[in-house]
Amino acid sequence: MCGIVGYIGTDKKVPVIIDALKRLEYRGYDSSGIALLMEDGSVVIEKKKGPISVLESELTDIWNSDKVLLGIAHTRWATHGEPNDTNAHPHTDCTGRVAVVHNGIIENFQHLKDMLIKEGHIFKSDTDTEVIAHLIEKYLKETGNPFEAFKKTIDTLEGAYALAVIIADEKDKIFFVRQQSPMVIGKSDKGTYIASDIPAILPYTRDIMPLEDGTYGYIDGKEVVLFDKEGNRIPFTPIKIDWDIESAEKKGYPHFMLKEIHEQPQTIQDALRGRIDIAKSEIVMPELDSLVDKLKTAKKVYITACGTAFHAGLILKYLLKTYTDLSVEADVGSEFRYMPWDLSRDKDDSIAVVISQSGETADTIAAMRLIKSYDIPVIGIVNVVGSTIYRESDVPLVINAGPEIAVASTKAYTNQLIVGYLLAMYIAKLRGFIDKQFEHQFVSDMLALPNLISTVLGVEETVKDIALNIKDSSNIFFIGRLLDHLINMEGSLKLKEISYIHSEAIQAGELKHGPLALISEGTPVIATVLQDRVKEKQISNIIEVRARKAKTIVLGYRDDIEAQSVADMFIGLPRIDSLFAPIAGIIPLQLLAYHVAVMRGNNVDKPRNLAKSVTVE
Ligand code: G6P
Repeated sequence: MCGIVGYIGTDKKVPVIIDALKRLEYRGYDSSGIALLMEDGSVVIEKKKGPISVLESELTDIWNSDKVLLGIAHTRWATHGEPNDTNAHPHTDCTGRVAVVHNGIIENFQHLKDMLIKEGHIFKSDTDTEVIAHLIEKYLKETGNPFEAFKKTIDTLEGAYALAVIIADEKDKIFFVRQQSPMVIGKSDKGTYIASDIPAILPYTRDIMPLEDGTYGYIDGKEVVLFDKEGNRIPFTPIKIDWDIESAEKKGYPHFMLKEIHEQPQTIQDALRGRIDIAKSEIVMPELDSLVDKLKTAKKVYITACGTAFHAGLILKYLLKTYTDLSVEADVGSEFRYMPWDLSRDKDDSIAVVISQSGETADTIAAMRLIKSYDIPVIGIVNVVGSTIYRESDVPLVINAGPEIAVASTKAYTNQLIVGYLLAMYIAKLRGFIDKQFEHQFVSDMLALPNLISTVLGVEETVKDIALNIKDSSNIFFIGRLLDHLINMEGSLKLKEISYIHSEAIQAGELKHGPLALISEGTPVIATVLQDRVKEKQISNIIEVRARKAKTIVLGYRDDIEAQSVADMFIGLPRIDSLFAPIAGIIPLQLLAYHVAVMRGNNVDKPRNLAKSVTVE
């Protein structure tokens, strides 16, 4: 997803801006560009399709120049117009004195473009963004005041936008606005910074303020001047970011994804922190204090999320249905708000859970806002502190997975599960569905998870052998029942995201109703056998696919001789309660996706066509 950087200060501009831009690479992009305001008042623009390194090679002459006063830069993930040099940001007006970088979508751009063309403006690109530069030009002519022109422009725009803007008439200002697309502002003794996300500017400052919707203003190298959406001046109130920069780097692993998979024993511990009273062996969730009455009396839970987070939501739904009397609906963010049912019918008896790693997924945010418009309390299970879902949910439950850089989510998923398990059991306890003995056992099993996951990571060599065996397949199927099916959905998503092999997770009982027709000699079938209550049925499904000469890869318990007996290849986990199987079982599936993708020579951390943070619908 598009990334924005802006810098004005005493350091050399280009190295800072390009370094910060590279720290946004994980969001996914297809082109990048930079606009620099020079001492002589000219604006220098470079933009290129492809990796930032291509842009960088165009900047050698200006790299250390003292004549650069300030700059803005952008990584683009195409939405309007194909990825090419012309459509890359920054975009300029007719005079070349206004430069704009944008993240989001301008919904009324066509209308504005038609109007501006009629007025004589000449457009160069196919983007919605270019209208912004021309609008500023128009209003600059009308008002003669750059900041007024900028304000009038944002009043005219409809849609989602985070903008950083250079207007050459103002040699010491970068203008910005945040409207439904993320943006943070930082300040240090070496200047002021704009970015789409905190990690971009973390090496330069730890005093960072995530902006609220509608906030606009400018930075001038010393000050951050801010206005709220009503135009009232507001103070710059940064939060101290104490993330370790090291943790945003690879730490010796060849890819972020592998590093993040191996971090899980630690991150799981971080998710449990503060949510278990070890002395009393009890779940404690002080964050939920304000919702206790509602959690006791509600009749219904709505769950919404996208992608991997939605898969975590499906497991939460399963747990709530198993351990409480709540009725639960889970829908992907992109559909939730188009569902024809009337939320007002049961709004007084409902709560909602919104799950998102980034806290910025547009569809999830839209669903959350719809829910909130009915005054249904929202619990946000979120990783990024300061993100939109973090700020707008009634109670954010932070999963504490730390920065997740690989596009394919791994440690955030397991931490979403951990928090989901705690939440479900906490609600079950409040409603009187679990007794003390159950709670003590649950707590002790949860506390044992970090060590258990370290042991499970030991299957990596076995998984590598399996990866080698199946890497050239064109279809890979996953079969399972109940919770096993739900983790297979996530395992299958991981595999297709990064290996580009077609893969499907099928409820094993549904095989006979269609998918069996796709099984032929040598087709890999990954069968998860971790749910005791359906084990016998699952084994007979494995026998069924074996009869069609499928290659069976069984994920089961080490001590399960029967499961091993139907496996061509076997991944053995230590014996645990089936309830916790998703948390342990997803680890080998993440590793399998990773190693297959590496063996196929794919760009594991940045798979084609995908973005880490999908901030447009
Ligand atoms: C993108 C990412 C996925 C993620 C999904 C939802 O598709 O590539 O890894 O699961 O968005 O993102 P969120 O940040 O809301 O969890």
